[in-house]
Amino acid sequence: MKNNIVVFGAGGHAKAVIDTVERHGQYRIAGLLDSYKAAGTDVYGYRILGSEQYLADHREEIDGVIVAIGDNWARAGIVARITSHCPDIPFVTAVHPGAWIARGAVLGQGTVLMAGAVVNSDTVIGEHCVLYPNASVDHDSRTGDYVTLAPGATTGGNVTIGDFSVLSLGANAIHSVRIGEHTVIGAGATVLSDIGGYAVAYGTPAVVVRSRAAGERYL
Ligand SMILES: CC(C)(COP(=O)(O)OP(=O)(O)OC[C@H]1O[C@@H](n2cnc3c(N)ncnc32)[C@H](O)[C@@H]1OP(=O)(O)O)[C@@H](O)C(=O)NCCC(=O)NCCS
Repeated sequence: MKNNIVVFGAGGHAKAVIDTVERHGQYRIAGLLDSYKAAGTDVYGYRILGSEQYLADHREEIDGVIVAIGDNWARAGIVARITSHCPDIPFVTAVHPGAWIARGAVLGQGTVLMAGAVVNSDTVIGEHCVLYPNASVDHDSRTGDYVTLAPGATTGGNVTIGDFSVLSLGANAIHSVRIGEHTVIGAGATVLSDIGGYAVAYGTPAVVVRSRAAGERYL
């Protein structure tokens, strides 16, 4: 295994993922893929090689890919496009050396842990999730796939967060609460009791302020 990977994405979020991959030290970034920026452009010291078709055309040279798109729904769309072009390509995880993965914790493929992120004992983080700097998920918790914990977002133990949901900047969820899928918990909120799916909730204590459709923008 040569450990040559490509990073899909070339925006601000991609810079943070690139830094995480570089510091992780497990992979060599062969270049970037992007749907909008032209092939041949240099971004953050790496060449844009093309889009998802590049993977299909150069499959034997590339050992893995990581999708560096911040929006959960958009990230899932790119993962689906990559998989349809290149069904056997592995999605790699990136873990900053300043992150902590406790005993028994599991990370799904494609997930990124940035500096200071903590996944505590026996917690399961799904696929293609992002834990930004200093985000923390305490023991025996479980997130679905395509979940974001923004910088400084934390949970207590035994918390469940559904697919595509977001715990925004500095938001906290106390032990044992359940947050449904496609839900956005606003910045600075304190979740004290269960919040259902397809909702926007914020405040202390967090309350649902409106419903939300899958894929609705939140950034
Ligand atoms: C919750 C959120 C998604 C916006 O929801 P929204 O329903 O679109 O809210 P709006 O921006 O239209 O604001 C509506 C009202 O709610 C208030 N409000 C919005 N977010 C709030 C929050 N997190 N806490 C308290 N009040 C909030 C606004 O001040 C506004 O109040 P007003 O009507 O008195 O003026 C957004 O405010 C938020 O918290 N985003 C998280 C950003 C983040 O963490 N980004 C990093 C991700 S990596």
